[in-house]
Amino acid sequence: MESETHGFSKIDMRLPVHLDRYPAKMVSKLADELVMRYASSGTSVLDPFCGSGAILLAAQKRGIPTTGIDINPVAHLLTRVKLKGFGTAWAHLLANKLVETAKMVRPMQISWPLKNYWFTPATLDKFERLRAAAVKLDLGSSREGEALLLSLALSVRLCSKADQRSPKPFISQHARNTRKGRHFDPYSVLSKILEELSEYYGDIKPLASSHIVMGNFSSEQFVYPIGQHSHIITSPPYINAQDYFRNFKLELYILQGILPFTVESIRDRFIGTERGDLLADISASKQADSLRVLPELKRLTQRAPRLGAIVHRYIVDMEYAFAKVTKYLYPNGIFVLVCGDNLIGGIRIRTWRLLKEMLEARGFHLFDWYSDRIENRMLAPKRCGHKGLIKEEVICAFTTH
Ligand SMILES: C[S@@+](CC[C@H](N)C(=O)[O-])C[C@H]1O[C@@H](n2cnc3c(N)ncnc32)[C@H](O)[C@@H]1O
Repeated sequence: MESETHGFSKIDMRLPVHLDRYPAKMVSKLADELVMRYASSGTSVLDPFCGSGAILLAAQKRGIPTTGIDINPVAHLLTRVKLKGFGTAWAHLLANKLVETAKMVRPMQISWPLKNYWFTPATLDKFERLRAAAVKLDLGSSREGEALLLSLALSVRLCSKADQRSPKPFISQHARNTRKGRHFDPYSVLSKILEELSEYYGDIKPLASSHIVMGNFSSEQFVYPIGQHSHIITSPPYINAQDYFRNFKLELYILQGILPFTVESIRDRFIGTERGDLLADISASKQADSLRVLPELKRLTQRAPRLGAIVHRYIVDMEYAFAKVTKYLYPNGIFVLVCGDNLIGGIRIRTWRLLKEMLEARGFHLFDWYSDRIENRMLAPKRCGHKGLIKEEVICAFTTH
């Protein structure tokens, strides 16, 4: 009983920002509010764009089983560690073993030409050794191993030459002045992070089960057996506001080869970003449909065709995602969507209205909505490459009957 109470109080503790700096992370106050308001009697909550897991954590605290999906391997690790916890003693033994193994193995090269720009040769050598050791010890197969992989991921930025203040890695004058030529040791940084994670998630006893999947929710190939849910609560990606690939590229190149993904296969698949051939499989008639549901898209496309293409892509990706929402929600379930407007190319895109209309066309009925001040999100400051300015967020709750 003591450990349960202990586990609960640990879950209530907030991770320090350097460990939980997920871009556009929802603050726990809003996540708690959503679960209390819409899912207090829920039997299972799904968040298909779970990010750092704020919504799932709020549901789990109330004993509700949860399922989370995210394409970002860092989100996957963060959410799994938060929801499942890990054994502290075993994780520390494993950490020692990891470092000892790393010192002996042949480095596993990071296949990325820019790696020398971001890390000193000595730091890089240690990361490449840690990669080889992580594979050798099969860290992805246990909760303790995942805690170590999260520690590894969180140590990447701290050990890089990048400015530490922004979610997007860049080497500023400030970073040049304060970090140039300094050696950051991944072995000791990783161990320190594991210590900190242990304070929050070591030996917790989760109050409900959780199932966390790494996958592309808007893909036809997303066929994981995740069942149906009484509630789906999510804040989907914004249009052109956060470039999750760019924000996490350092971590992704290091985790590639350890977790089952390739950078190549996910970099263009983050919804709302500007990568890849955006209009490749969007027919002219589909584009015409999008112009009908979002008339301001015509003006945007005339003014800035590339930005227009991002919005076209976003609409198609969200259509796929909403088809999946229908599939994974009980027939009388509740779908809660948290979404803001975007300012793109100087034109205000009423994203929440767009998504609402797309859902209504699928037979969803809006039964409750209210707007929320944007302070409830951790957003990158504008100067750090935050392009699609968000003015406010709207919480929309739908049923299907
Ligand atoms: C607005 S964030 C969610 C933030 C989350 N509510 C939190 O509190 O941290 C949107 C998330 O969608 C994820 N995402 C983007 N494209 C995706 C896709 N195709 N499939 C699944 N997840 C995706 C991003 O990686 C990001 O974590």
